[in-house]
Amino acid sequence: MPLREFLPLSDQQREVQQLAREFAASELAPHTAEWDRSSHFERSLIGRLGELGFLGMTVPERYDGLGLDAVTYLLVLEEIAAADASTAVLMSVHNSLPSQMLLARGSEEQRTRFLRPMARGELLGAFALSEPEAGSDAAALRTQAVRDGDAYVLNGTKAWVSHGGEAGVIVAMARTDTPEDRQGAKGISAFLVTPDLPGFRVGKKEDKMGLRASPTVQLVFDNLRVPAANLLGEPGQGFVYALQSLDQGRLGIAAQAIGIARAALDHAVRYADERRQFGSPIRDFEAIQFKLADMATRVTQARATLYAAAAAKDRGESITQLSSMAKLTASEAAMWVTTQAIQIFGGYGYVTDYPVERLFRDAKVTEIYEGTSEIQRLVIARELYAA
Ligand code: CAA
Repeated sequence: MPLREFLPLSDQQREVQQLAREFAASELAPHTAEWDRSSHFERSLIGRLGELGFLGMTVPERYDGLGLDAVTYLLVLEEIAAADASTAVLMSVHNSLPSQMLLARGSEEQRTRFLRPMARGELLGAFALSEPEAGSDAAALRTQAVRDGDAYVLNGTKAWVSHGGEAGVIVAMARTDTPEDRQGAKGISAFLVTPDLPGFRVGKKEDKMGLRASPTVQLVFDNLRVPAANLLGEPGQGFVYALQSLDQGRLGIAAQAIGIARAALDHAVRYADERRQFGSPIRDFEAIQFKLADMATRVTQARATLYAAAAAKDRGESITQLSSMAKLTASEAAMWVTTQAIQIFGGYGYVTDYPVERLFRDAKVTEIYEGTSEIQRLVIARELYAA
């Protein structure tokens, strides 16, 4: 690893980071290329991540989690992403979105039923906000929930759900206002949907450019009967809960992007040392040195922003603006660094024999999901005027 560590880590943080590094090197890295090639989702990883505690990292010990801070969680995520970005998104979504929503808003009964097995790795959690017609404008979602006795009946299609077909519980946002009295963002509620409920169907699986080992699906709710006990928190508050959890989710995506960028930098540094042209290793040429210097700088800038945001989170401060800054900085760094890595590899960067083309494909989505770069800029700018 050519980058200097600059964070003052505790012994425990170093130990957990090292555990993640070893797991990533022995159980992920040897398979990443093949899983990507065959779009293979390795289901056994859920249990394995659970055994390591990586599916309940910031969940308190009383709910079977590790009760660690955000900095430690993100250090782990960065290590996982550097080896396999698909596994990183599974970890990030599960830990940041459904787990945090349950922790913040779930009843004791819901936490016992869902959060505890999630933290142990026995139940995978997913998050369903977007719809085919509601992406950046998430509050425009149309899935309708209608109260019927002791249940809500949901109809609609959720889109772009990471591992939605593999999850044991999905926190899904649906409208509880009526078509006659639309309440905008305040008409949305959060539901704990399980795949055994009648009316639940996994729809189209997306054929993606990158993150091919992370299955992304549509979920179709066709008169899906969700027990009223599965309403999460207050009715009409689901959108606010979703945005609150995305403040944390975006830190996870930033860590994922940094892992991808770091891996591309590592490969480029090694290749520039081995590859000879004009009688010397190409690292002797200033054109390559300047690229490597800029790549290392962009990764370090992104890490500085992310861990400043994570430290603010651990101090209990609002991180809406910082998490958008971290995601924006890290995802744009990942895209830029992976592009430079391909340039350094030349033709070899453009073929599947080397990993940099996969890293480039994996990087792109970090500028899109959990809020595009344009939405991050919108959030950052709005916060400049927040009271
Ligand atoms: N924390 C808490 N509350 C928040 C909040 C935050 N970060 N941001 C907004 N709110 C509150 C607002 O204060 C407002 O409440 P009040 O009216 O009481 O003040 C309410 O939420 C609605 O907010 P806005 O009026 O700002 O809503 P908006 O419709 O203008 O949209 C948006 C805001 C920032 C554009 C939002 O829609 C957004 O983030 N869009 C991007 C969607 C997104 O990130 N999708 C990710 C999909 S999940 C995914 O990708 C996971 C995966 O699988 C990898």
